[in-house]
Amino acid sequence: MAANEVLATIKKRRSIRAFQEKQITEEELQTVLEAARYAPSAGNQQLWHFTVIQDQQLLAELNVSAKAGAAVIDNEHIQQLAKNEKFNIFFGASTVVLVSGKEDGLEIESDCAAATQNMLLAAESIGLGSCWVDLTLFAFLGEKSEYYKEKLGVPAGYRPFSSVVLGYKKVEAVNAPHRKEDVVNYIR
Ligand SMILES: Cc1cc2nc3c(=O)[nH]c(=O)nc-3n(C[C@H](O)[C@H](O)[C@H](O)COP(=O)(O)O)c2cc1C
Repeated sequence: MAANEVLATIKKRRSIRAFQEKQITEEELQTVLEAARYAPSAGNQQLWHFTVIQDQQLLAELNVSAKAGAAVIDNEHIQQLAKNEKFNIFFGASTVVLVSGKEDGLEIESDCAAATQNMLLAAESIGLGSCWVDLTLFAFLGEKSEYYKEKLGVPAGYRPFSSVVLGYKKVEAVNAPHRKEDVVNYIR
C-alpha cells in the first residue's frame, strides 16, 4: 500500500476529547481555517462561513444551551450525556469553529462536511487535537436559533451545520475505533 504524510495523517487523526487549557496560536488557527477554505464545494459555491469562538464564557453558555436542547430529544444516549452535569460538549477545548452554510446552497451540508473534515486533518497534521462536535447544533434549536446566530455573526440565510473543537491534546489517542472492512464491493 502507498504510504505518505497525507495518508499517515488520515490514519493518525482521532477524535480528541481532553484538552489542555492553553490557547492555540494564531498561526495554528489560520492554518486550520485555510484548510477549511480549500475544501471542495458543489459548483465551487463556497457558501460556508466559519465562526471562531475563543471567548470561554460564551463557550460555557453554548455548552449549557446545547445540553438543554439535547436533553429533550428522542435519543437515550444523547439525553444521558446532556443530563450529565460534568459533561462538557467541547471537552474543555479553548477554540471552537462553528461551520455554517447558506441554506439554499446546491449541496451545502456536503460542502460544510468537507470543510469540517479538512480542519480535522489540518489540525492533526500540525499536532493539534480536534473533534467534530455536532452536539453544538442543539444550542440552535427553536427560539434560541436567531439569538445565537446573531450573537455569533452567522450571516443571514445561513445556518450552522457542524463545529470543530481545537486545542492541545491532553493525551495522545492510542487506539483507533474499529473500522469496518466489509463495506466495499467491486464491479470490474
Ligand atoms: C457528523 C459527525 C458528528 C459528530 N458529533 C460528535 C459530537 O457531537 N461529539 C463527539 O464527541 N464526537 C462527535 N463526532 C465524532 C465521532 O464520534 C468520531 O468521529 C467516531 O467515533 C470515530 O472516531 P475517530 O474520529 O477517533 O476516528 C462526530 C462525528 C461526525 C462525523
